[in-house]
Amino acid sequence: MGTSMELDGKVAIVTGGGSGLGRASAQALAAAGARVAVGDVDDAGAAETVELITGADGAAFAHHVDVSVAAECEALVQATVDTYGGVHVLHNNAGVAWPGRDGFAPDMDPATWDRIIAINLSGTFYCCHFAIPEMVLAGGGSIINTASSMAHLPLGGLDGYAASKGGIALLTKSMSPSAGRSGIRVNAISPGYVDTPMNQMIWGNDAVKHAFDLGHATGLQDAEEIADIVVFLASDASRSLTGAVLNCDRGWTAFKQPDLLREF
Ligand SMILES: NC(=O)c1ccc[n+]([C@@H]2O[C@H](COP(=O)([O-])OP(=O)(O)OC[C@H]3O[C@@H](n4cnc5c(N)ncnc54)[C@H](O)[C@@H]3O)[C@@H](O)[C@H]2O)c1
Repeated sequence: MGTSMELDGKVAIVTGGGSGLGRASAQALAAAGARVAVGDVDDAGAAETVELITGADGAAFAHHVDVSVAAECEALVQATVDTYGGVHVLHNNAGVAWPGRDGFAPDMDPATWDRIIAINLSGTFYCCHFAIPEMVLAGGGSIINTASSMAHLPLGGLDGYAASKGGIALLTKSMSPSAGRSGIRVNAISPGYVDTPMNQMIWGNDAVKHAFDLGHATGLQDAEEIADIVVFLASDASRSLTGAVLNCDRGWTAFKQPDLLREF
């Protein structure tokens, strides 16, 4: 018998929980028994996620956070402790990709670079900074950071995004030995291309969608399958994993991409 992936009694924070992968993760963590703090800069999206969870008899509350602001990350962690008594799981998921604004280094406004790094990379650091002491008090925990296939195999032309995700992958590895001393595991997920609002430029165009479909060994991904991996990483079933950056990308980074992709 394997170890259960149940999270009864656990408290989880999901940033960017108002949409896409974060919403699916918050729902899956709650379905596994965790009480969930849904942090997002989009209050309506976060409230909708909470409704979905409570409507399915789960426990969750919404909290406004801009993860690029350290004090707001601190307030999210404090609100979670005040509401549920501690923190055991942190899914750092909030992130932005701005094709068109982000680009090749000489063409990109430095302010765009700063903002992408502030949200994706610094936001991940800030939430770890404030949540880890609470996990220590709780006797241990699990952090799941959200990197990307682009941390391993950039498409090119999204230099800010790729650099932010590469930074998250290395931050994950670098934190793991120190965190491990307190019973805290730190892993990252690197999805391929998932059907979320972030990827409407892919899903909204049949030819582009077909090319991306061919680039994944077993076809395109949905948010729920990534959420299953988050629950696994949050649970003791993954106790052997820390400092891991998991390519959960249906093979996107495992083989040479079809030439068709070069057209886009
Ligand atoms: N969709 C994919 O294919 C894919 C692949 C690899 C990695 N990712 C990563 O997964 C994460 C979620 O992506 P998604 O596809 O669900 O995108 P999404 O746009 O659907 O959701 C992102 C969420 O983050 C929130 N957010 C944005 N900026 C924020 C900020 N400053 N503070 C707090 N919340 C903020 C948004 O309001 C939104 O609710 C991102 O980190 C993204 O880079 C996505």
